[in-house]
Amino acid sequence: MEQTFIMIKPDGVQRGLVGEIISRFEKKGFYLKGLKMVSVERSFAEKHYADLSARPFFAGLVEYIISGPVVAMVWEGKNVVVTGRKIIGATNPADSAPGTIRGDYAIMIGRNVIHGSDSIESARKETALWFPEGVSEWQSNLHPWIYE
Ligand code: PPS
Repeated sequence: MEQTFIMIKPDGVQRGLVGEIISRFEKKGFYLKGLKMVSVERSFAEKHYADLSARPFFAGLVEYIISGPVVAMVWEGKNVVVTGRKIIGATNPADSAPGTIRGDYAIMIGRNVIHGSDSIESARKETALWFPEGVSEWQSNLHPWIYE
């Protein structure tokens, strides 16, 4: 089954949005397979965002991610990468539809509350980086009520 990596950024944690965000993924029917709160080092944040190192906002983005604890998660389900990005909403909250997490809880692109992998390949890489110990093998018994 497909998995994606989701990170609640420091503003989401500080603003008390962790429960709300987890609830949205749970209520959709996705399964939580990994969860931890961590404060990451600068070098770790730089590694996570390595593909963006040439972008002008890179330094600010790294500062933002290391400014407080984040909640790292792995969620599982059919099409969870693409659907997860829909639940999150457009990268710039100015363009995020109401009803999405960023549409409901963010205003600035540099404080957009949450990260979600943009492809299955990124999800694999990001999960390996954030969960080198692996994620849970747990299988929910809700499956027959969610999938036909
Ligand atoms: S790209 O390459 O511009 O298309 O990147 P994009 O997919 O839009 O965004 C990748 C991540 O960079 C963050 N981002 C920014 N952070 C701070 N300031 C500015 N101006 C900015 N622009 C993009 C954006 O939130 C994405 O972070 P994640 O954590 O992957 O959602």
